[in-house]
Amino acid sequence: MNKPRLYSGMQPSADSLQIGNYIGALLSWKALQQTHDAYFSIVDLHALTVAQDPVKLRENTRRTAAQYIASGIDPSAATLYVQSHVAAHAQLAWVLNTITGFGEASRMTQFKDKSAKQGSDGTTVGLFAYPILMAADILLYDTVVVPVGEDQRQHVELTRDIAARFNSRFGDTFVIPEADIQKETAKIFDLQNPTAKMSKSAESHAGVIWLLDEPSVTAKKIMRAVTDADGGVVFDRENKPGVTNLLTIYSTMAERSIQSLEDEYAGRGYGDLKKGLAEVVTGTFGPIRARVLELLGDPAELDRLLAHNADRAAGVANVTLARAFDRVGL
Ligand code: ADP
Ligand code: NA
Repeated sequence: MNKPRLYSGMQPSADSLQIGNYIGALLSWKALQQTHDAYFSIVDLHALTVAQDPVKLRENTRRTAAQYIASGIDPSAATLYVQSHVAAHAQLAWVLNTITGFGEASRMTQFKDKSAKQGSDGTTVGLFAYPILMAADILLYDTVVVPVGEDQRQHVELTRDIAARFNSRFGDTFVIPEADIQKETAKIFDLQNPTAKMSKSAESHAGVIWLLDEPSVTAKKIMRAVTDADGGVVFDRENKPGVTNLLTIYSTMAERSIQSLEDEYAGRGYGDLKKGLAEVVTGTFGPIRARVLELLGDPAELDRLLAHNADRAAGVANVTLARAFDRVGL
């Protein structure tokens, strides 16, 4: 039986991933690679939509690949590749640009947010076209399932609209994909600002747990996490966002229920909870970090593996691209 096709990706936008990327994406990808024919991309073309240092971008792309692998993405079970290594992404994106309405693309809320922050001179046409490149990413693999965060729902909707429009105008060409929206319980917040999503691109790194931080740095950040004056270890997103965030991280990383953690730490205060959490996080990330350093120690082998995976991805993508080119008369 053929496994359903799945596609997801992450930008190589920092030299380390953060714990939200691990819990919200990598942990579920690791499970999904067993049940799906999974394509996991490092989307460097997407990263280019904001200014990048060329040397750092190339290095961060390798580092991101190493972190995927060290976190359990198996490059022989899943196809793990760098987006720019498969030329079909940019080629199909161009065709899709020509059937996407300017008004339709202008309604993307992520573009509105990002461009508002960057001003009209800092906002590139590439940033505007980002969701259409993402549509190409997904459609090239005849993807059925797209696991993403809530913030990407609108982009997957756009992908579906573009695919359906293409199919009705030019004949059946693309599979219409479905978004598989990340569970609310997999969302991690900034340790210093526990109502804001933890992010690689956060302005301050004080509340970000990096996968590649030294264990002592991670422990310090957890011990300094913002909590509240109440003292009770209770899961309450509304009134105790800091403690609730710590319990969420603990529960997913240790594979324990929130209830069992509340019971264990009842009456013991936040210091003990944080100490326990720091042990769990460093216990998981320690070996991952060691494996990342090992992989980065042999860049030629890592590059060989990525090239091999890109060939595999291109084998699928080029078939879809040829079909689409043929349909539009190219
Ligand atoms: P970042 O904000 O760290 O740059 P991205 O927006 O590039 O992360 O998202 C990459 C992947 O990681 C997506 O699948 C996204 O849903 C997931 N992700 C990012 N931040 C978090 C978070 N704080 N909690 C849960 N999942 C997250
Ligand atoms: Na980001």
